[in-house]
Amino acid sequence: MTSSFDRVRFQALASARSLRLGQPIVSVRSTASTNDLALDAARSGGAHGATFVADEQTHGRGRHGRSWLSAPGESLLVSILLRPRLPLSHAVALPLAVGLGVRKVVATLVGSNLATELKWPNDVLVSGKKISGVLVESQIRGAELEAAVVGIGLNMGCLSFPPELSEQATSLALLGAEGLQREAVLVELLSALDDYLRRIEDQGVAALSAELERHDALRGCQLSVDGLVGRASGIDSTGRLLLIDEQGEAHALAAGHVVILERASQSSDL
Ligand code: BTN
Repeated sequence: MTSSFDRVRFQALASARSLRLGQPIVSVRSTASTNDLALDAARSGGAHGATFVADEQTHGRGRHGRSWLSAPGESLLVSILLRPRLPLSHAVALPLAVGLGVRKVVATLVGSNLATELKWPNDVLVSGKKISGVLVESQIRGAELEAAVVGIGLNMGCLSFPPELSEQATSLALLGAEGLQREAVLVELLSALDDYLRRIEDQGVAALSAELERHDALRGCQLSVDGLVGRASGIDSTGRLLLIDEQGEAHALAAGHVVILERASQSSDL
């Protein structure tokens, strides 16, 4: 998968599915970060659904100030400008909804025999390895969510990762889903994203509760979240990660960088 993203092919697939997102579509061979392209568009009044794809990013960003690296043409690198009908109090649902949407598409592509789960708030793991990450950057005006840029990196064609990542990362190709077109996968992602967005616009996080519970990669795992160590006990009805610390005290976390110290299956006391 080394050819450039084909905008015309994407548009044909998108119009066959009557997609609401993905218009206009901008694709570039190389850029610093597709999130920057979408944030610029947000500032200059760009439309809900405008989508920015790159074959390569020179300064791809991840959550918590990390970089997002990928070899040219081997990943789907996309940012979508949204203008959701969401009160700020429900904005917390957006990153979770995006993660669940990506999870659903990945699960369809890799097959139901592999565990495809959500590592709160929005990493997608297959058999415990990360295949996709999401970075949501929001523009707030007063009490309104004016715009949100949803950046998604999905490992598609990569067959090897640097040694420090090889135990933690995977790709569609490594899982047997080879030869997929980025244009077709993007159509599926945008369709899922639109579906989950409508759900949270109508019902907030409550619309996600059942799926968050069913696909929770962290439940029962021993975690460190920004230095707080404890065992994950689920996700609450407002989308917060629940953690029981080593003194037995319960914490509900709205944000944080999660490190898995011990997987649930290796635990003897849960
Ligand atoms: C993470 O797992 O920390 C989030 C990674 C998000 C990466 C995507 S790639 C497309 C978009 N542009 C960026 O600079 N970041 C996001």
